[in-house]
Amino acid sequence: MKKPWGGRFKEATDDIMVRFSASIGYDQRLYAYDIQGSIAHCKMLAKCKVIKSTEAKKIVSGLQKILKEFESGTFVCDEKLEDIHMNIERRLIDLIGPVGGKLHTGRSRNDQVCLDFRLFLRAETEAIVEGITRLSKAFLAQARKNVDTIVPGYTHLQRAQPVRLAHHLLAYVEMLLRDRDRFLDAYPRINVMPLGSAALAGTNFPLDREYTAKLLGFPEISHNSMDAVGDRDFAIEFCSASAILMAHLSRFCEEIILWCSSEFDWVELSDAFTTGSSIMPQKKNPDAAELTRGKSGRVFGNLMALLTLLKSLPMAYNRDLQEDKEPVFDTVDTVKSVLDVMTGMLKTARFKKPAKADLEAKGFLTATDMADYLVLQGVPFREAHEITGKAVAYCLEQNKPLGELGMEELKTLWPRFREDVYGYLQLESSVDRKDVYGGPSKRRVQARINQIDKKLKTSRSALFKTKGRRP
Ligand code: ARG
Repeated sequence: MKKPWGGRFKEATDDIMVRFSASIGYDQRLYAYDIQGSIAHCKMLAKCKVIKSTEAKKIVSGLQKILKEFESGTFVCDEKLEDIHMNIERRLIDLIGPVGGKLHTGRSRNDQVCLDFRLFLRAETEAIVEGITRLSKAFLAQARKNVDTIVPGYTHLQRAQPVRLAHHLLAYVEMLLRDRDRFLDAYPRINVMPLGSAALAGTNFPLDREYTAKLLGFPEISHNSMDAVGDRDFAIEFCSASAILMAHLSRFCEEIILWCSSEFDWVELSDAFTTGSSIMPQKKNPDAAELTRGKSGRVFGNLMALLTLLKSLPMAYNRDLQEDKEPVFDTVDTVKSVLDVMTGMLKTARFKKPAKADLEAKGFLTATDMADYLVLQGVPFREAHEITGKAVAYCLEQNKPLGELGMEELKTLWPRFREDVYGYLQLESSVDRKDVYGGPSKRRVQARINQIDKKLKTSRSALFKTKGRRP
């Protein structure tokens, strides 16, 4: 088979080299974007009178036919034609004759592949932003149901201070909102039209790049032909936003896995999002969470792969860049499936209220409140800390919680204790005294739920509003 670039070659490509250099196995995924880009390029060529409008019509209808072939599964890809671009171009020429060969005027695969990749990442960023919004809504719904669920908050995985479970869940929503912002921030840098850069040096033809951009819905065109074909920083940003998202979700999954254990017993996951054991009949395993935690590794790895790919590349395009696709495709697939499964798992989860007796019996959750009580009586905080520490040591000896210390016992620790200290040692009142903005009091948690609810209702068009052109 004659290669589209075969003119200067006398010998056939070795089969080993054919297999080694082919990307069609995975870049065929870009077919719809490749055709969309080619149609726009072709219309622009006609508008600029580089090709005749009758020729453009033939090319466009040929491309539309090829799109249908892909959609119906009848398009046959050929590894010898290396990639999606040459497979489509060869089919076009088969379908409409030599005039199909005019499509590639003023264009190179170097700017073409970059365009396809940008169109792809633009669409996938939109899908992921929607996925994060859906997952955040599932978190918010669980937070609403669990405003009155008091749980121990932990530091060092040791019981620290009581909080509302809603507050704990909302911490993840804050992370998700920032994750969503990171994708939205990166979006305008994806949303740039590179066609017209050709191989690296632009083109001799008087192309109307703004027109192509308009046809494809790009608010901006690239400003330097070498940069446009040679960089993939937009893909790195996408993978970086994905990696941070996965780090957050992996933390949440770790907690879900702990919370499902008999030791914690805070949550019951639905049968629909758990799996069984092939040997132990009693088991119901949180595999959705475990797999998500596990899959974070490949998403981090994909980011590393792209950074390493870019590092040390001389200007402008190098074939190394063909290796950009698989890590990005894998990131997209992983992140989208993780967002779906996390949303399903969370929507169908049932959180339990930890028994009050257990919360009071273990961990001295209100010890800091006792110290703060002493501070309010005028004791310097360091001394208050010391007195409360002694109270904890005494309780450990006596095997009782702080709230069960009698007034006599308290007074041996500090003579001016009064009955009102007991108000400070109760869980609910402890939480509600943390009424600082950002704290876990009922008032603050409810107010934040309402703010987030509004944020999550922001329309798609407002989220993706293009900020206009950079100078
Ligand atoms: N398949 C290539 C890629 O993904 C397309 C560009 C190839 N350009 C070239 N001159 N070999 O990067």
